[in-house]
Formats: sequence, structure tokens, C-alpha cells
Amino acid sequence: MEPSYFPRTENDSLSFRGKQLLSGRHKIHPYPAMLHPLLVDYLLEKYINKPRSTILDPFCGSGVTLLQGVLRKHDVIGFDINPIAMLISKVKTSTYDKVTLYDELEDIKDAVSNSQDVDIPSIRNIDTWYDPKVVLDLGRIRHVLKSKDYRHKSFFLACLAYVCRHQSYTRNGEFKRYRMPESKRNNSKNEVIPLFLNHSEIMCEVFTQNKLPSTSIHLHRADVDANLEFDLEVDMILTSPPYGDSGTTVAYEQYTSFGFEWTNDLTPEFEAEPNYYKKSLGNKKNSGNGVSNVEVLSETIKRIEELDSKRASVVTDFFDGYYRALRNVCKYLKPNGIVCFIVGNRLVKNQTIPLDQITASFLTSQGMTFESIFVRNICNKVMPSRNSPSNLKGVQSSTMTSEYIVVCRNTT
Ligand SMILES: C[S@@+](CC[C@H](N)C(=O)[O-])C[C@H]1O[C@@H](n2cnc3c(N)ncnc32)[C@H](O)[C@@H]1O
Repeated sequence: MEPSYFPRTENDSLSFRGKQLLSGRHKIHPYPAMLHPLLVDYLLEKYINKPRSTILDPFCGSGVTLLQGVLRKHDVIGFDINPIAMLISKVKTSTYDKVTLYDELEDIKDAVSNSQDVDIPSIRNIDTWYDPKVVLDLGRIRHVLKSKDYRHKSFFLACLAYVCRHQSYTRNGEFKRYRMPESKRNNSKNEVIPLFLNHSEIMCEVFTQNKLPSTSIHLHRADVDANLEFDLEVDMILTSPPYGDSGTTVAYEQYTSFGFEWTNDLTPEFEAEPNYYKKSLGNKKNSGNGVSNVEVLSETIKRIEELDSKRASVVTDFFDGYYRALRNVCKYLKPNGIVCFIVGNRLVKNQTIPLDQITASFLTSQGMTFESIFVRNICNKVMPSRNSPSNLKGVQSSTMTSEYIVVCRNTT
């Protein structure tokens, strides 16, 4: 057991056993390490008692916090560096005109069925990742979406992004790009058009079932570890940051790269340069001088350094950026505002990185007052079940089975 400086409280009722992770609008596009909507609901109910509060998720990913916030009639702000994350977040939190959405679906159905015109973006090694017929059909859908000014275009682009990944040669259930050998491609039949139309139709139904409350929604594709110059005041920061150097954890960029390649130029508000992910936490080289005075972190780094100094410097780089990101977002918290960081304690070189403790230390170093750390079991989170923390081929260990919810308050 690693030393625990900030007390943890087990809360089994937060495990939501048997409760679906993907439901309602969240089904439009899965995303790695999504928050459980019921956990977000619980935290919003517990800590926010004022109607129309402002909730910020600075690593919003697929927008679980944002949608649950809107459903509770709060104003929401989301940042993320990943353009597909922003597209999904926008689509989930938008309001749809039922008649227009269905008319557009019909129009797209007709156009895709009756035209053979294609628009295929320039994708490196395209034949390595897709069957040639899949490429043509993705190109047909893209051509249709590009050729008209659909009011709800983003909705259909999110459906297309989902299909691109699904119909590629990557292995389902794998977050990193992994090309299945030919013998294993039993689901490589070209189903692009039926899958796209079917998914769009089901989602049209889900998205038009209920009207979202009208609240204010701000989404920015932003690097939170850079200078953020927004003029904001928020009541709550509720987020789940990356858990470590992304080379060995969940590969957000690789997971979304298929959709990115086919839709990036069609989503001008979130359009990103192809190597945008190099700026994500864990991928940037940092100076490593911001966090050495946090005891729990320096002890952790020391343990890893004794085993592998290169790996220790990658971990240090991650925490340097993480610290800056926390500092950047904490400045937006109103007095008495609440901050909840949902994290996992991963292994590096078989050493536990107590991210909950480090996060609590970072937050308290920003003047926040520690409130609690809840521990919950993550039986239904979309995470890889095994990883190789030592990076030795074939040596695997179970990844996290618990999630830690670090709660602090701005008492300054
Ligand atoms: C754990 S995921 C968030 C998942 C999200 N809570 C959800 O429910 O879908 C962490 C997110 O941090 C984002 N990220 C990594 N580095 C970032 C940076 N420097 N600035 C902004 N976002 C970043 C990743 O793109 C990823 O979407």
C-alpha cells in the first residue's frame, strides 16, 4: 500500500454496478475513459445547489460532464485538445429541430444511395487501414456531407467519425491503433453505408426525444497547459484529466484518429493540425522544475528513477504540465467554488503513481482546501483491462480497478 496523506473514503454506492455507461446521447460516439454519467449527476447534485451554476470541464473529452450539466440546467464550459472530443461534445449538447434533422437524414439517405461521387481526403497509408470498398463508401458519405450546407452537419459528422473507426482494420476494444492481421478480420465486411444510416437514424430518435434545457454552452479546443486567456468565473470544475504519460495509457488521439482523418477539414471551429496531440499532457517535453517541492510526487519519481531514469523523466514531464494545467484552471474558480478531479492511480515500472494524492497536493498548493477523496470501483468504465506498466513485451498487470474522486474547495 502506498502512503496515504489525504484520507480516502470508500464509497461503494458510487460503483453503479449494472448501470450502463453508454446511454442516451452518450451513445453517439464512444470515447476512452469516459466518465460515468451517474457519477457526474451525483457530484453535481451533492456540490451544486444553485440553479444555473457554471460548470467547467477543462479535459472534457466526449462531454459527459457537459451534457449532464446541461440536463441539470447549468451553464457549461468545455476545453479539450482533441478535435473529435470537441465535435462529440458539441453534438451532444446541441439542440435539434426534429423536422430539420429528419429531413436532412432523408436527404442524405437519398444522396448517398443515388450518387457514386466520392471525396477521399489524403490519408497516409489509407490502404493499410481500410478495405478499398470501405474507402469508396466513406468517400461517398463525405462527399454528400461536404456538398451541402446541412444545419445539423456536425451531428452527421459525428456519426461518420464513429463509422470510420468501426470499419477500419483496427481491433475493436483497442484504444491504440492496432492493425488486425488478415486472418482475424472477421468483421471487415464493408458495411459503411448501412452502418452510417442506421446509427444516424437511431441517434436521430434519441436526440429528438427530449428538448435540452436552454443554457449557455462554451466549447473551446484548447491546450489547458498553455496560456489560457478566457474571462471566466465558474462555480465548479468537474473533470477527469489524463492519468499519465499518454504513450502508455489511454491513447485518446489514436482512438479518434480514424474519425479525425475523415472529418477534420469539415469541422472548421475545431480543426486541428495533424500533430496537435504532441501538445497533450504527457507528450510534451517540459522543464520539470515546477513540481519538485510536492513531497508525494518527488518520492514517487525517486522510486521510478531508481528503476529507469528515462521513464522517470517522462513522468516528470507529465506532472510538470499537469501542475500548470491545474493552476491555469483553478484561477477561474469563484470563492467557495468546488473542484472535483476524477483520477486513477496507475502503475509505472510496477510502482503505483498516487495521482489522487498528487492531485490533492497540487490543488491545496493553489490555495484550495481539501474536502475528501472518494474511492469507487470502476467495473464498467471503458478502459483497457490489461496494460504493460513495465513496457516489457508479454509482461502485463491489471490496470486500475478503482477511481478516486478528489474534492477541494476554494476557500480563499
Ligand atoms: C480522461 S479523458 C476525459 C474523458 C471525459 N471525461 C469523458 O467523459 O469523455 C482526458 C482528456 O484530456 C485531454 N487532454 C490531454 N491533454 C490536454 C491538454 N493539454 N489540454 C486539453 N485537453 C487535454 C484528452 O484529449 C482527453 O480527452
